[in-house]
Order: sequence, then C-alpha cells, then structure tokens
Amino acid sequence: MTDLFAKLALDPSREAMAEGAVLLRGFALPVEDQILPALRSVVAGAPFRHMVTPGGYTMSVAMSNCGAAGWVTDRSGYRYDRKDPETGRPWPALPQCFLALATAAAGEAGYPHFRPDACLINRYAPGARLSLHQDKDERDFLQPIVSVSLGLPATFQFGGPNRSDPVRKYALRHGDVVVWGGPSRLFFHGVPELKDGHHETLGRMRINLTFRSAL
Ligand code: SIN
Ligand code: FE2
Repeated sequence: MTDLFAKLALDPSREAMAEGAVLLRGFALPVEDQILPALRSVVAGAPFRHMVTPGGYTMSVAMSNCGAAGWVTDRSGYRYDRKDPETGRPWPALPQCFLALATAAAGEAGYPHFRPDACLINRYAPGARLSLHQDKDERDFLQPIVSVSLGLPATFQFGGPNRSDPVRKYALRHGDVVVWGGPSRLFFHGVPELKDGHHETLGRMRINLTFRSAL
C-alpha cells in the first residue's frame, strides 16, 4: 500500500480516498467509444427497471445488469441472481471491453487479481439518488468494487465502516473510475440527488457501472 500511495502522490489524476480506495480521474475516457455501444446492446437485452426494496420502496435509480450474475432486490430481499427476473433469461454476458476496463482499473489501484462476474448498471435521471449503503451481498470481500461513471456529474459520498461515520464528497465526472477494496471494501457510500444538466453524449442522465466479484 505504501508503494501505491507514493505512486498516487506523483500522479495528479489519481486521488487516494482512504486506505484501499482510489479515484482514477478520466480512466475510462480512452475506451468510451467501445463502452457506450456495448452498454446499449446490454440494455437492449436486459432493459432498465426500477426495483423495489424489501421495505417496499421503489428505487429512484433504474437498474440493469450483465455478467454471470446480477444484483436484484424485491420484497423478499437483496441478492445476486443468475437470471433476470423480468425476462427469466440469463443476464447479457459481460462485454469484453467492460471486463478489460474493470481489470485494468483494479490493477492500477493495486488489485491485480480482480475478476468480476457481475456488473450492476445504474441509471440516474435528475433527482435520482442512492442512499448510503455498503456493498455486502458479494461472497468474496477480498475482491474490490470497481465503479465507472458516465454522463452527468454526480456527488459521490464515501464514508467509513459505520453508517454514522463522516462522509467525504467527490465530484465524479464522465470517465472517472473509483476502486475500493481491502480495508475500505465495506465502507458506506452513496449518491445524493442528481442535479439536472445535459451531457454531450448521454444527455440528461448519469450511468454508473459497478463491477463486483459476486459468486
Ligand atoms: C453503487 O453504489 O452501486 C453506485 C454508486 C454510484 O452510482 O456511483
Ligand atoms: Fe454500492
């Protein structure tokens, strides 16, 4: 980790957020021309939907998935499912360019062995938000989370191991990638209400891809 922090200190596009957590500014920009068409074909096979939490709340963020498993929620709980409950079919495969981006970002952040099998796709319209939570439905917490931001900018809140810990706020823009793992793998994080705006390629929305090793 010391080596990683030394490297980060020399590169202004890398920001250390906590031990094990790094913000890689613009890391996805060189491959956006591959990512956006792949995303379109994934959501053609598994359309965005607003899922319901176990408490009966309809999420403001619309979601889809690709990979061997997808994160889902309904009245019976949160889980990873190999099939899309809307279509009854397996989720679309993880596009090769998604996998390459996620593993490269993880490697850059000090996790050279990351092999994601799930990618949750979040779509935020203006006003949509994701309250503070931990990503803890995955089987292996030794593997990091890799999160890719596309479209409208958002504020990302990154806290600590307890919900009541203070949060730091990061402005995430199109192409930014956040990786968290190791000591910060279970840190609370969230996205407050997305501000309205217009992004030159995605229009009035933000898309976030989070890669996980779930199964
Ligand atoms: C998530 O926590 O699943 C998404 C975070 C984000 O949209 O940046
Ligand atoms: Fe999350």
